[in-house]
Parts: sequence; structure tokens; C-alpha cells
Amino acid sequence: LALGAHAVLAKASSEPVNVEEFKELAKLTLPKMYYDFYAGGAEDEHTLRENIQAFQRITIRPRVLVDVSQIDTSVTILGHHISAPILVAPTAAHKLAFYEGELATARAAAAAKTIMVLSYSSSCSIEEVASSCNAVRFFQLYVFKRRDISRQLVERAERFGYKAIVLTADAPRLGRREADIKNKMIAIPEKNLEGLITIDVSSDQGSKFETFANKTLDASLRWEDIEWLRSITTLPIIIKGILTREDATKAVEAGVDGIIVSNHGARQLDFAPATVSVLEEVVHAVKARVPVLLDGGVRRGTDVFKALALGAQAVLIGRPVLFGLAAKGEEGVRKVLEMLKNELETSMALSGCPCIKDITRSHVRTHYDKL
Ligand code: FNR
Repeated sequence: LALGAHAVLAKASSEPVNVEEFKELAKLTLPKMYYDFYAGGAEDEHTLRENIQAFQRITIRPRVLVDVSQIDTSVTILGHHISAPILVAPTAAHKLAFYEGELATARAAAAAKTIMVLSYSSSCSIEEVASSCNAVRFFQLYVFKRRDISRQLVERAERFGYKAIVLTADAPRLGRREADIKNKMIAIPEKNLEGLITIDVSSDQGSKFETFANKTLDASLRWEDIEWLRSITTLPIIIKGILTREDATKAVEAGVDGIIVSNHGARQLDFAPATVSVLEEVVHAVKARVPVLLDGGVRRGTDVFKALALGAQAVLIGRPVLFGLAAKGEEGVRKVLEMLKNELETSMALSGCPCIKDITRSHVRTHYDKL
């Protein structure tokens, strides 16, 4: 064996000690087409890199000689008390990573005492996931051209105990993910949504997933349609994909119950800003009227700490969950969630913050702060 191969094998057999190592393990485990689907971003992947690098440009201002013998990472999000401000973001088709798919992810979320947001393009049904675990679950919705399909999904989610609807607003059409186009990404489970939607695989232009999504998503959706969503559900509505103060204000005015600052993991508009770089802009516009959450590029407990210091109530993680699932199934997801919680605990202890509410704006320095 070449020296390089030995190194890869040695790494693969050792336990990952951080989220990035789960990514490496997932890369060794997954077929290239699936790994690319999970890992990739839109076009030049500028935003994909920025989501990570923007966190790295923020430093932490630690305080010492605070009693940190007890650390409490727990928070309450929309009335749900969870063990740490780290939620599972909605991501498509977990069965590509592991045979049990979202059922394994949901059990891991339950074990970690956190919230899982189930994607509309889940490879397990709303009902299966509901009956497989007692995690608090939210349901992520895209609005389809056929409103009756969206309505049915929302009704099923509500009936089966999902506690909020997460409306993804940044995908009127899919971004160009060039790896998927090259790979002709085909394997989104066809039984998706229990036959409500049949994937159209007739086109050989680009990726099949892209063709399917662009045929079914309603690109004419407008702010006024939040009212329609409100009229069909009593659940709280969280809007996902806000990146500007203008839209944050509109979202609050439209009556949403929460906002997720997100660029869809850099899979939609390339050159959209890194989420953490616009978090404060959104937080200031919202003026504490609704909770603000963030996702995109969270890979360390220190990233969670930084997002909270800049005003987020919690973060969500997308790819780390998928990589944990691909590497080690349910246990992998549990470990990823545990790792980030433990890292957050350590950063809180080392920064002099025994509780989440102790993390304040003065605990971080950004490049735009005055010295
Ligand atoms: C996503 N994301 C996503 N979002 C959504 O609202 N509905 C979806 O079905 C999906 N599907 C999806 C698939 C894959 C493979 C990825 C990587 C992402 C976006 C997701 O919810 C979240 O915004 C990002 O993943 C967060 O960024 P990180 O944590 O992956 O950097």
C-alpha cells in the first residue's frame, strides 16, 4: 500500500474526535454521487467556503475567574426545553446515507434531547418518523404549485404531533449544484412523500433532483401567502432563508413566529453572504419580537457560542448530521450532537459563561467592531 492509503485507513478506523473527521469518514463510506450531493454547494461554492470562514474571522473575548464549576447549555425554543441550542436542520433523503434514514436521525435527536426538523423531501414518511421516536419534531415545507399537496403535508404534520412548520423561502427554484449536474444525481427515493409526488425522471438535462424540484416548486410564492399558510394551520410558522434586515422586518410583519437566518447551506444563491456575517443585521431588525435562529457552517461548539453571542437563540446543523449518519448511523448522529454540545460546554467554561444567557455580545469580536 502507498503511504497515503495507510494514512487513510488508519484515520478511517480511529474514532472521529470532531465534526470535520466525521466528514472525512463519510467521504470514505459514501458513493461519490451521494457524498457530492451532501457536501456540495452552488456554482463556485464561494458562499460554501464563506459560511465556514466567516465564523473563523470572529474571535471570542473570554472572562476569567467566574464560577464555571457547573455549565448549563439548555435553552427553551418556542416553548420546548432542549439540552443545547443545537437543532437538526431539515436535509433531504437520509436513506442515501444510512438504510434507516430519518428514523435513525430522529432517534439520535431524541437521545440528544433536541429538536429535529424533518425535510419535506424526507425518505421516511411524516408518520413513520413520528412513531419512531419522542423527539420534538418540526416539519419543513416547500410550497408546491399544487397547493393541495402542501396543505395535505401540513395537515399530516399537525395530526402527527409536529410542533412547528418551517417554511423554506429561499428555494423558488433550485440553485445550480454543479457536482449533481455532472453526476446526474438520480437516487432521491421515488416513493418520496408516499406517492403524493412522483419523481419525474424523464429529462436527462442536468440533475434529476433539480428537474423534479423545479417542476413542482411554486416560484410565484409571495409574502401574502404566509396568510394562506396561517389559515391552514394552528402551528407556529418559522421562516427559513432570511438574510437581510428588509426581509426580517417583512417576516415579522407577516406574523411569523420565528426566523432562521440561512442561505440553505450555500446550495442556492452563490455569493449570498455567510449567515453569521448578517446575523446581527437580522437580529437588530427583529428587535426581539420573535426568536432568530441560524444555520450554515456550524462545525464547532465555538461557532455555536459565536452565533449566540451575536443574538441567535439557537443554531441548526445540516451536513454534520448527514456525515455522522453516513459514517455510523444513529450512533454517528448522536456523537455529532454530543460533540458539539460538549465543545459548547467547554467554550462556555473557558469564556466565563455558566449559562446560555451569560453569553453576550461583548464575548465576541468581529472584524467590524471597533477595538
Ligand atoms: C439541505 N438543506 C435543506 N433545507 C431545506 O429547507 N429543505 C431541504 O430539503 C434541504 N435539503 C438539504 C439537503 C442537503 C444535502 C443539505 C446539505 C442541505 C439546507 C439545510 O436545512 C441547512 O440550511 C444547511 O444544511 C445548513 O448548513 P450546514 O450546516 O450544512 O453548513
